Amino acid sequence: MNRYSRITGTGSFLPPRRLTNAELAAQLALQGVETSDEWIVERTGIRARHFVDDGVFSSDLALEACKSALQAAGLTPQDIDLIIVATSTPDMVFPSTACILQNKLGANGGAAFDVQAVCSGFVYALTVADAMIRTGSSKRALVVGAEVFSRILDFKDRTTCVLFGDGAGAVVLEASGTPGILASDLHADGKHVGILCVPGHVSNGHILGDPLLKMDGQAVFKLAVGVLEEAARATLAKANLTEAGIDWLIPHQANIRIMQSTARKLKLSMDKVVVTVDQHGNTSAASIPLALDTAVRQGKVKPGDTLMLEGVGGGFTWGAVLLNL
Ligand code: UT7
Repeated sequence: MNRYSRITGTGSFLPPRRLTNAELAAQLALQGVETSDEWIVERTGIRARHFVDDGVFSSDLALEACKSALQAAGLTPQDIDLIIVATSTPDMVFPSTACILQNKLGANGGAAFDVQAVCSGFVYALTVADAMIRTGSSKRALVVGAEVFSRILDFKDRTTCVLFGDGAGAVVLEASGTPGILASDLHADGKHVGILCVPGHVSNGHILGDPLLKMDGQAVFKLAVGVLEEAARATLAKANLTEAGIDWLIPHQANIRIMQSTARKLKLSMDKVVVTVDQHGNTSAASIPLALDTAVRQGKVKPGDTLMLEGVGGGFTWGAVLLNL
């Protein structure tokens, strides 16, 4: 019998502190940084974001998302033999956030590691988990995206600090005799490292270089709209499907204009695109599982639906996963 992997539960979590654009703009104005609700909504579609309080880490957000994904799957942490966390804002330099999460869950003993592909992290992690399940090295995985981007934002840079937020999303991925994940397509082009990065690093007890996020937004935008279409088409071709076979497009939630452009290129109506960026801004690796879980819990996305998940971000990295829920 062929062995495949399927998503059997989804979960997500946003920290309680929510800032609307107007609230963030008022705070930034106190530091002489000028922005407005109108600019942010028109250029990005974002209306609010959630920020963690001091002392809360990616693993804490991941823990809540995992608990609800496990509950949805009808499983306990002890059923899990693999945890992959996609994050660019890990709790520590090491060990991995996945190990810290594993201990908080009480799911000790299985494999646990982080994947670092910035905003493409979740599609990378899902692809790795699918491969590990299909080859028999794992039976039941938690695949998580969790971020505290508020910790790496430069609140004096209005071109970036209004865009990002904190959050986590998770799925339970289980071995199955029927295909869930149908195909995936991952890429990176390291020559674009500089257009989206946090260049600082720890050295001899000091941080060397700037530890805050830098982005050339226009360069990222241009690359993103091209590669998202390519990745979707490549993934469909691997599964012998066309865009007509997609019930829902669940793209990385960075900017509504990028999502609209991708939908247009794939000839999909915006009614088929899951959009949650308005509610949480760009949560990097957490954004796709956050959007997926929101749509599942709203009853929009249903078992049996064919979903195209797409990520793009720092690296430069991009990729897509096509699956039957
Ligand atoms: O997660 C990884 C993927 N990341 C992304 O997908 C981000 C991709 N890039 C984008 O989403 C967009 O490029 C941004 C939202 C970052 C910027 O939108 P844009 O339409 O490319 O704006 P822009 O950079 O061309 O800036 C237009 C104007 C500038 O003023 P001038 O030079 O025209 O006078 C900026 O200084 O908007 C100004 N501006 C702002 N104004 C008010 C930039 N940021 C702000 C702000 N509030 N927060």
